[in-house]
Amino acid sequence: MCPDRLEKDSELRKVLEDVFDYRTIMAVYRLMNKGVLSKLYGVVSTGKEARVYRGVTPEGDDVAVKIYLVWTSEFRKSRLKYILGDPRFENAPRDPIGFINAWCRKEFRNLKRAYSIGLPVPRPIAFEENILIMEFLGESGVPYPLLKDRPPDDPGKVLEDIKGFIKKLYLEGELVHADLSEYNIMIKENDEIMVIDFGSAVLRSHPNAVDFLRNDIINIYRYFRSLNVETGRPEEFLEEILHER
Ligand SMILES: Nc1ncnc2c1ncn2[C@@H]1O[C@H](COP(=O)(O)OP(=O)(O)OP(=O)(O)O)[C@@H](O)[C@H]1O
Ligand SMILES: [Mg+2]
Repeated sequence: MCPDRLEKDSELRKVLEDVFDYRTIMAVYRLMNKGVLSKLYGVVSTGKEARVYRGVTPEGDDVAVKIYLVWTSEFRKSRLKYILGDPRFENAPRDPIGFINAWCRKEFRNLKRAYSIGLPVPRPIAFEENILIMEFLGESGVPYPLLKDRPPDDPGKVLEDIKGFIKKLYLEGELVHADLSEYNIMIKENDEIMVIDFGSAVLRSHPNAVDFLRNDIINIYRYFRSLNVETGRPEEFLEEILHER
């Protein structure tokens, strides 16, 4: 892509809000040239580590475009524990750009695995450098609410669904989400859940996988206890899963 087009394409520049570097904008163009994306609309979420935009495919389907921000050294340090010990990232580059791209690729692969065994996660579509494209979960361009903002009508049932999710992801997908909480679970009006944000997920063989699994269970149980659901002890559920391994 020539810089000329970039200059002229003020609309795209506006959407990207001058947050992203030249390299990221070029990657957006590559996704457009590949026919994965035809337009990028406004931002739906601005976080510390990533921004999520609504995009549209040439077929007219909504997609979520998650763009990781360039890594700060502090952030990178905090994420190292997920990367080290993951055989898929043995040769992960140590430079900030290489690292963030590897992180994005990891989220894509984790999603693929979870999606392929039928779990309720967004269908992964493509990735390019620090950009992940996936199915848009929401209606009319508005994402479904997160569990933290919209407690379920039937919390007991939703807890069971989430436990089923954790178990199947571990036993069949051989993955641990490792960042599971009410902040990364969407809920539809009928109390159906969708789980997002798979960047941190690790393989079951990761040396800290059991600790991550325990933490996921603790976080989920804490949330449901705040809704007065009788959860039982996290260790009990952890043992139940590990026994079936
Ligand atoms: N597939 C999707 N469809 C619709 N909205 C999405 C999708 N994925 C993410 N979002 C929206 O973007 C928000 C942030 O996504 P996500 O949790 O994956 O990023 P994050 O890594 O937590 O970012 P940060 O921690 O920097 O906020 C979600 O809470 C949700 O509102
Ligand atoms: Mg999140």
